[in-house]
Amino acid sequence: MPGIGLGTFGSDNYTAQQVSNAVREAAEVGYRHFDCAEVYGNESEIGESFLAIQKSGISREDLWITSKVWNHHHHQVEEACQHSISNLNAHYLDLYLVHWPFPNHHEKGVSVDSRDPHAVPYRHDRYMETWQQMEKLFRDGTVRQIGVSNMTIPKLELLWRDAEIKPHAIEMELHPHFQQPELFRWAKDHEMVVIGYSPIGSPSRPERDRTPEDSVDIEDPAIVRAAQRLGVHPAVVCILWQVQRGSVPIPFSVKRAQFEATLQAVCGLRLSELEMSEIGQSDRGCRLIKGQVFLWPSATSWQDLWDEDGIIRQ
Ligand SMILES: NC(=O)c1ccc[n+]([C@@H]2O[C@H](COP(=O)([O-])OP(=O)(O)OC[C@H]3O[C@@H](n4cnc5c(N)ncnc54)[C@H](OP(=O)(O)O)[C@@H]3O)[C@@H](O)[C@H]2O)c1
Repeated sequence: MPGIGLGTFGSDNYTAQQVSNAVREAAEVGYRHFDCAEVYGNESEIGESFLAIQKSGISREDLWITSKVWNHHHHQVEEACQHSISNLNAHYLDLYLVHWPFPNHHEKGVSVDSRDPHAVPYRHDRYMETWQQMEKLFRDGTVRQIGVSNMTIPKLELLWRDAEIKPHAIEMELHPHFQQPELFRWAKDHEMVVIGYSPIGSPSRPERDRTPEDSVDIEDPAIVRAAQRLGVHPAVVCILWQVQRGSVPIPFSVKRAQFEATLQAVCGLRLSELEMSEIGQSDRGCRLIKGQVFLWPSATSWQDLWDEDGIIRQ
């Protein structure tokens, strides 16, 4: 897996066409890894860019294309996967992820207070039914690797006990103010590739996804200091920190100057040991993607999704 990818979730800010154009330009400047998902609503536009990229002489084997099955397709994983492959003009996927461990749906752009009346808590037997469909896709070669996203250690322990094919990768929220050291270590110990989402701390996420206690990574003094020394934007330092720590960041950007600067930095710059250690100490446990919209009627707070005390809420 290339050590950095381009995120493709445009959220409210960027259209499918803008994201698709960014994918094409990012390939021009050297990106080969793209983090896609059915729910981002832009796979067919991105597929046009993948076609153009392949016509320009970059072979499919040189690209790393990830997609994810959305929550309402947990019972139709094969159909959802084939749909993504066809939209993306990808022929196969390098990595296919279960996007969330809950089959709970929400409409695009809803407020964080919105609730799906049919939402349910995690049920391991149901997750295994989904996982077995993922295993089949791996076995028949439709996808090269399978993995998970938004998981916790208690849920992973159950999956490890019951899966015939263990996840090859885990995608999780990771940025300097949310380092998830225990989950990171667990994933490494179990030989999963760790992919870090929202690696800059998602500074442009919509207002509805912000809470007053959220902190801002790119304003952190240790990050700003390192950025000044290297002459780069603090966003780039967040990415360097993640690469040097040993995970694969997938920063989003549709701006060529930004994604080009990020890639150049990853290829040419290094944080010092002191900078790595100072940023390592700046963790604030600040989860930004809390997942409130996935809560089921009897749940009390977004913490119920994340098994913080080691217990899976029912
Ligand atoms: N598995 C999951 O459940 C999950 C959840 C969330 C995200 N993701 C994936 O992770 C990707 C990235 O996460 P994210 O979009 O939340 O946030 P992010 O990558 O942390 O932040 C993206 C924002 O950072 C700014 N930026 C990027 N590069 C920059 C640079 N070189 N200099 C200055 N600013 C820069 C841009 O802001 P402006 O646009 O304002 O310039 C951009 O919109 C998503 O696109 C998606 O693929 C996965």
